[in-house]
Amino acid sequence: MKVIVTGASKGIGKGIASFLAMDGFEVGLLARSRDLLEDLRQSIEEQGGTCFAATCDLRDPDSTSAAIAATVDALDGVDALVNNAGLVIRKNVFDITLDEWRAMIDTNINGVYFATRAVLPYLKSQQRGHIVNISSISGKVPLSGGSGYAATKYAVTGFSQSLFHEVRDYGIKVTTVYPGSVDSESHRHDPMADHSWKVTPAEVGAAVRDVLRTAPGTVISEIEVRPLRKA
Ligand SMILES: NC(=O)c1ccc[n+]([C@@H]2O[C@H](COP(=O)([O-])OP(=O)(O)OC[C@H]3O[C@@H](n4cnc5c(N)ncnc54)[C@H](OP(=O)(O)O)[C@@H]3O)[C@@H](O)[C@H]2O)c1
Repeated sequence: MKVIVTGASKGIGKGIASFLAMDGFEVGLLARSRDLLEDLRQSIEEQGGTCFAATCDLRDPDSTSAAIAATVDALDGVDALVNNAGLVIRKNVFDITLDEWRAMIDTNINGVYFATRAVLPYLKSQQRGHIVNISSISGKVPLSGGSGYAATKYAVTGFSQSLFHEVRDYGIKVTTVYPGSVDSESHRHDPMADHSWKVTPAEVGAAVRDVLRTAPGTVISEIEVRPLRKA
């Protein structure tokens, strides 16, 4: 199966892409950081995996379409897109700046739409495929101190749940994933704190693998991936 993962340069996206590649999936890696993507590409290939890396800025629809077209070309097809990339700026309504607010809207909402619209024609023409959208528990329940972030994640939830109804008749599955606390560096707000209780990026990768491996006529439309232990 050929899967494109956005935001694969670090954090959860890197965990998902690495896990899938080691499980036999062919993986397309998308993000802005060329060097980080190149490091991951080399590491996956050294371990026997198959992948292709393309840089893009998901806030730009042309850049996104070009990277996805190049990836589909290189992998000779696409079966699934994992919309993982996102900006996490956890500030309350008094502290967040206009630029930070706009950057989150652009990345977390527009970016998800731009990648989805670039992949859908391939999936529609083959009458088969899967879009996996990484929302958040903060796309389900309020996040005090992160109203802007929560707004973007509620938007991802709304888009993802509605998209399912728009594309299911074309044989396209949609899954919304709601991670709880995951141990990515950008979520280490206090680097000195204990983060061992959190879900690891690779464990989110395992959950995405399970979601992608359902029978052709079945879709897991939503999953929550939470740490068992509390902070
Ligand atoms: N960590 C958690 O606890 C948690 C919980 C629930 C949900 N989530 C969600 O999981 C996703 C990943 O979070 P994370 O913690 O792994 O964050 P992260 O470590 O900061 O990684 C974010 C990824 O998104 C990419 N990205 C950001 N802006 C981009 C842009 N304009 N164009 C292309 N790529 C871009 C980054 O790559 P470049 O900088 O190289 O472009 C990076 O690969 C986000 O959607 C987040 O909302 C995280």
